[in-house]
Amino acid sequence: MKLYFNPASPYVRKVRVTAHELGLTGRIELISISLTPVTPHEALRSNNPIGKIPTLITDDGATFYDSPVICEYLDSLAGGNRIFPATGTARWTALRRQALADGIMDAAVLMRYEEAARPKELRWQAWIDGQLLKVRTALDALEGENLGGAFDIGTISIACALGYLDLRFASEAWRSTRPRLAAWAAAIGKRPSLEATTPAVS
Ligand code: BEZ
Repeated sequence: MKLYFNPASPYVRKVRVTAHELGLTGRIELISISLTPVTPHEALRSNNPIGKIPTLITDDGATFYDSPVICEYLDSLAGGNRIFPATGTARWTALRRQALADGIMDAAVLMRYEEAARPKELRWQAWIDGQLLKVRTALDALEGENLGGAFDIGTISIACALGYLDLRFASEAWRSTRPRLAAWAAAIGKRPSLEATTPAVS
């Protein structure tokens, strides 16, 4: 399989952590690309009309995107219901947490593009503040959750969202008012899958 990827992308990290947890890392060839909404990648767009990473090309030549679909596909390759709980409360909790964590990533990546890609004179502070409010409110909600237990698609996504905040928004210092979440992140961060995929600042 081939995975279009960028080491800084938290969505890509979700896929790589999932692959690592499922023992599938060796079956995935990483194709490193750089892109922003204003600098698209042509080869990627010919496989994924939305032109986003992660995009996975399977051994059969099928193309899957985005991270929730790819992660569930990898889970199925590994036998199923290992990262995505099969039924009941465990499944719906994991999927809701994935949506919450992906929402943090969406808001944070939009803020990042605003800082790194948009010309200074076009920046809109109220819009950035709106994204930051989403991130902070979601983190406060996570502080109130009991995240112990399975490392599933919900908690994988949360770990990757927090990692992205550390990478791009360290000055936000999210740990200072969320000690439970900070303790959980420190403990879970020792998993080899997270250690192997920690992005370096660039
Ligand atoms: C980043 O550099 O922050 C980034 C790169 C790719 C996707 C999302 C974010």
